[in-house]
Amino acid sequence: MLPIKSIWLRPFLLLLFLLFNNNRSISSAQNIAKTLPGYPGILPFKLETGYVGVGENEELQLFYYFIESERNPEKDPLVLWLTGGPGCSAFSGLVYEIGPLTFDYEAFDGSLPSFLLNPNAWTKIANIIFLDLPVGTGFSYSTTFEGYHSSDTKATKDAYMFLQKWLLNHSNFTKNILYIAGDSYAGKLVPMVVSEILTGNEAGLSPRMSLEGYVLGNPAMYLESDLNSRVPYAHRMGLISDEYYKLAKSSCHEEYINPDLKNAECILTLQHVKQCINTINTPQILEPKCKFRAPKPDGLKWDLTYLEEDSIDILLPSNQERPWCRNDNYVLSYVWANDPTVREALQVRNGTKDEWRRCNMSLSYDKDVTTVFQYHQILSEKGLQALVYSGDHDLSIPYISTLEWIKDLNLTLDDDWRPWLLNGQIAGYTMKYSYGEDQFFITFATVKGAGHTAPEYKPKECFAMLDRWFSYYPL
Ligand SMILES: *[C@@H]1O[C@H](CO)[C@@H](O)[C@H](O)[C@H]1NC(C)=O
Ligand SMILES: *[C@@H]1O[C@H](CO)[C@@H](O)[C@H](O)[C@H]1NC(C)=O
Ligand SMILES: *[C@@H]1O[C@H](CO)[C@@H](O)[C@H](O)[C@H]1NC(C)=O
Ligand SMILES: *[C@@H]1O[C@H](CO)[C@@H](O)[C@H](O)[C@H]1NC(C)=O
Ligand SMILES: *[C@@H]1O[C@H](CO)[C@@H](O)[C@H](O)[C@H]1NC(C)=O
Repeated sequence: MLPIKSIWLRPFLLLLFLLFNNNRSISSAQNIAKTLPGYPGILPFKLETGYVGVGENEELQLFYYFIESERNPEKDPLVLWLTGGPGCSAFSGLVYEIGPLTFDYEAFDGSLPSFLLNPNAWTKIANIIFLDLPVGTGFSYSTTFEGYHSSDTKATKDAYMFLQKWLLNHSNFTKNILYIAGDSYAGKLVPMVVSEILTGNEAGLSPRMSLEGYVLGNPAMYLESDLNSRVPYAHRMGLISDEYYKLAKSSCHEEYINPDLKNAECILTLQHVKQCINTINTPQILEPKCKFRAPKPDGLKWDLTYLEEDSIDILLPSNQERPWCRNDNYVLSYVWANDPTVREALQVRNGTKDEWRRCNMSLSYDKDVTTVFQYHQILSEKGLQALVYSGDHDLSIPYISTLEWIKDLNLTLDDDWRPWLLNGQIAGYTMKYSYGEDQFFITFATVKGAGHTAPEYKPKECFAMLDRWFSYYPL
C-alpha cells in the first residue's frame, strides 16, 4: 500500500510546492530605484516600488510607490495615499500633487519627459505609500478575470490587507504613526479604510497599526449632495445671478440634481443656470475649459468633469491658438509611464499592463456605498484626528458641500471660521471641531485659489498646512 500512496503523493506534493513557491515569489516583490528615466543622477530620496499580493490566492497584485521621508523616516508619520477617480493612478497624485518629482513642462518636446524636484513635496515630512487602488488602476492588475471586479467595500478590504502585508514586510514602520489620505473620490474610501483598521486593531489582528487619523482633500462624501451644492456655490462665486439663484432655490426646492421634470418653472430656471456654468472649467473655475472636454449633453445632470478621462489626442496640437490647458500637463504622464525604460526602472512586470492610463475609465467597479457620513460620525468618537481641506475654486466638489456635512456631525466648534496665513498672506480659512471634552477631531481648511486637487494648484500653502497639522500647531 505504502509505495502506491507515495507515488500518488509525490506529484501532488510537488504541485503544492510549486504553487506555494510560485505564490511566494509573486506575493510581494520590491525594488529600490536609485535612478529614474527623466531624472539626471541619483534620486535624492529613497524610492521603492513593488507589488503586494492581496485576495485569497493573492490574485490581486497591487502596485505601489513608497517614498521615505527626507527628514526623519523613523520619526515621521507613515501615510497611505489614494488618488481618486475611482481609477486614477497613485502616480498622478505623486507627480501632479504631493510627491518629490514634478514634470518639467517647459522642456517637454514629445520625447521622454524630464523631472524637476518639488520643493513642497509632502515626502519631505512623511513616509508615503502611493497605492494603485482599486485593482485595474495604474500598474495594479489581477491574475484572474473575476479579480478585476471591485467596489467601495471590496477596495476597502483590499487596502487593509495591503497595509497588513506591507507592514509585515516593513515591520520597522509599524511604530510610525499612520494616516490614511486621499482626495476626490478617495474621500469615500479613506474613512472606510480607517474604520477597517480600527476594527482590525480592536480584534487584535496583526500587525497592530498606529493609526492616528486621516487627511481628505475636496472629498466625495455623498455624491448627490456634493453635486447639488454646485448651484449655491456657483451663485456664491458670481457665476449665476441673485435672481436666477432665488428662483432656482424656491422653484426646485433646493433639488437640482434630480429635479421634478414636471416642474416647468424649475426646469426652465435650471436651463438658465446651466447655460451660465456649462462651459466653466469644473476643477478650477478660473482656468480655461478646453474644447475636447466639452460636456456631454446628458439632460439636466451635471457632467462629472473630475471623473473624466484625459484624451491622449491632445498630444498632437494642430491648432496653436488653443489656450493653455492644465490637461496638457497630464499627457506627460502617459508618455513617461508607457516608456519601456520606465517600466524596467519601476520593475513593472512584463505583460501585466498593455497601456498605462492616468485614470482608468473602464474600471469594473460598483459604487456600493452611497454616503460615508456614518463613517465620519463613528470615527468622530474614536479620538482620531482629521484634516479636511478644500481648494475653494473647485466646482466639482465645492467646499460648501464639505463644510455642510462637517457641520451636520454636530461636533463642538472649537475655532470658528478665521483666516490662516502663509508669509503674511491669507492662504485660506479654517475651522476646528472637537468631540466632547478636548477630543479634538476635525480641522477644516480652505486653500484660497486652489482647484479640485489643491496641492497641484497651491503647493506651498498645502505643504505648510500639512506641516502645521502634523505638528499639532493651529493652522
Ligand atoms: C526601516 O528600515 C529601512 C531599511 O533599512 C530604512 O531605510 C528605514 O528608514 C527604516 N524605517 C524606520 C521607520 O526605522
Ligand atoms: C520583504 O519581502 C521581500 C521580497 O519578497 C524579501 O526579500 C524581504 O526579505 C522581506 N522583508 C521582510 C523584513 O520581511
Ligand atoms: C521584461 O522584459 C525585459 C526584456 O525581455 C527584461 O530585460 C526585463 O528584465 C523584464 N522585466 C521584468 C520586471 O521581468
Ligand atoms: C482598467 O480596469 C479594468 C478592470 O477593472 C481592466 O480590465 C483594464 O485592463 C484596466 N485598463 C487599464 C488601462 O489599466
Ligand atoms: C444634529 O442635530 C440635529 C438637530 O438637533 C439633529 O436633527 C440631527 O439628527 C443631529 N445629527 C446627528 C448626526 O446627530
